[in-house]
This record gives sequence, structure tokens and C-alpha cells, in this order.
Amino acid sequence: MNQDEMKQAVAKAAIDYVIPGTIIGVGTGSTANYFIDELAKIKGKIEGTVASSVASAERLKAHGIHVFDLNAVDGISIYVDGADEANKHLHLIKGGGGALTREKIVAAASDKFICIADESKLVNRLGRFPLPVEVIPMARSLVAREIIKQVGGEPVLREGFTTDNGNIIIDIHNLDIMEPVKTEQLLNGITGVVTNGLFAIKPATVLLLGCQDGIKTID
Ligand code: A5P
Repeated sequence: MNQDEMKQAVAKAAIDYVIPGTIIGVGTGSTANYFIDELAKIKGKIEGTVASSVASAERLKAHGIHVFDLNAVDGISIYVDGADEANKHLHLIKGGGGALTREKIVAAASDKFICIADESKLVNRLGRFPLPVEVIPMARSLVAREIIKQVGGEPVLREGFTTDNGNIIIDIHNLDIMEPVKTEQLLNGITGVVTNGLFAIKPATVLLLGCQDGIKTID
């Protein structure tokens, strides 16, 4: 199996977690796109979805799947999304596609987070993938200075990128994340930070990994 086939296989496996008659939270990225395509095959069995990005909402609607505003629903049974890195504790780095804030919001509103990824995303220690931080534009320099002071690494502005919320992204390069929960808390405490791409305070519930020899489940 190549990487795309592994992503497709985990997306298919995630369908087993879908609870009929409920609202499904849908993530963003290439693996989540495969999940959307699989969800389309059983769209009559769910009540609808909540999307974590404009791009995913458009893909869902193109399949004829109803997309609710988060404020219009009482709850979400499962949230299905990819990750840029994951460790065995199910702590994640997300936001490579820049949708981290809405992803964290939809994940927070969901009973369970089913993370789907190919095996290349599993790491011993998080941080080789630059950690995305969504920032209010006027706070860019302040936040960059505070990042260096409080957590280290090299903050780099993602050039020419604006989030769905109208903000900028600072990617922190060369950060060895020994204590993901602490790093997530420290970054969230910096004034001007909207959120950061660490999902450690509330990790995934299940990690479905697409491997050469099939699907591995870590929970
Ligand atoms: C989007 O902002 C990200 O969090 C994605 O979920 C993550 O980057 C995984 O993307 P792929 O499935 O494309 O690797």
C-alpha cells in the first residue's frame, strides 16, 4: 500500500465508528477528504455533519451531505480527522492545513475523536513537524517573542496564509515537545494566541493507523 492507499484504508475503517442517526464532526485535510468520500456512501444513515473548515464543508455539500452550523446542534457523537503527528498517548499535532482552531472547537464539542492517519504520522516525540499557532494579526511580533521566551523553538510566519477566521499562522520549527500538555497550556496563555495545534489536554480517543499490513488501532 502506498501512503494514499493507507489514508483511504483508515478513512474506510473510521466508518465503523459512525453512530447511525447522529451528527458527525468532520475534519480537514487529505485523509479527512477520503473520510468524506466514504461517509457519502452512507449519508442516508446520519443526521448530518459539522465541518471544521470551509473546504470540508464544500466537499460535504458537493456529496449532498447536510452541514450544520455548530451553534445549531446539541452535540456531536464523533469527530473524525487526520493529524500531522501523533504519539502513542494519542497526543497530536494538527493544523498543517491551517484549520486548527475550528478543528479544536469541533473536537471539543464531540463525544469521541477518531484520529485517522497513515503510519508515517506516528512519532516517539512530537515536534519534528512545525507546530502551528493561530494568532490575531496585530499580535504577531509580541506572540513570536513570547514563544521564544516561554517554549523555545523558531517561530516562522506562514507567508501569504490567512485562516478561515481571518487570522495568521505562526509555525514553530525545531521544537522538541517533551511535555505536550504543558506546551499546549503555555502557548494558549500567550495574549494574542487564538489556539495552537497541540491536541494533548484533550487527546484523540482512538488512533486508527494505516500500515503496510493493515489497520492498527491504538486507544
Ligand atoms: C488541517 O489543518 C490539519 O490539521 C490536518 O488534519 C492534518 O494536517 C492532516 O492532514 P493530512 O490528512 O492531509 O495529512
